[in-house]
Amino acid sequence: MKWSRIAVFASGQGSNFAALAEAERAGQLGGGRIELLVSDRPEAPVAKRAEEAGIPALLLRPKDFASRELYEAEIVAELQRRDIGLIVLAGYMRLITPVLLTPYAGRIVNIHPSLLPAFAGKDAIGQALDYGVKLTGVTVHFVDGGMDTGPVIAQRSVAVEPGDTVESLAERIHQVEYELYPEVVRALAEGKVELEGRKTLIRE
Ligand code: GRF
Repeated sequence: MKWSRIAVFASGQGSNFAALAEAERAGQLGGGRIELLVSDRPEAPVAKRAEEAGIPALLLRPKDFASRELYEAEIVAELQRRDIGLIVLAGYMRLITPVLLTPYAGRIVNIHPSLLPAFAGKDAIGQALDYGVKLTGVTVHFVDGGMDTGPVIAQRSVAVEPGDTVESLAERIHQVEYELYPEVVRALAEGKVELEGRKTLIRE
């Protein structure tokens, strides 16, 4: 199984999905190829973006399955059919169960709009603003069974400006995400990310 064959999981707007697809088109994902979009919300804008980019999509409603495990088993079957090596979560709003985690251990990554471990979970940008931090940012991390708890691969900071709203800060955070995620996905696809315990290293 090759890490270069990528599935992106997303539930919403899919602007990170679009940034990754654009990076691939521009030759910036190295050997990485986005082979599949997986979404738990068939009506989400990201599904349309996949169609426009000519990327196949697996659109499944979890409530059409008897359990979360059966929903994920269907996804795993499709990932294996397509020989997917790397799962990239980009605004996928569900916790992953062992059905998906076990076969893809160490090969699932997520992007989160804060400097973890600060402000894990939902509405990270609102949480940071409410707390009053002066610096927040973006984290790309491996996914484990917890909520935003896996080993950190890369982080980039974004300053909070006086007068920032959730919208204005989100806009600057998104711009950083669109640069950072393709860089890290490229390194992963090329097998350049090493993991030892909680420590990661991106080799040149
Ligand atoms: C991003 O801010 C990402 O950090 C978080 O969910 C958001 C997804 O946005 N995990 P989009 O769907 O890529 O536009």
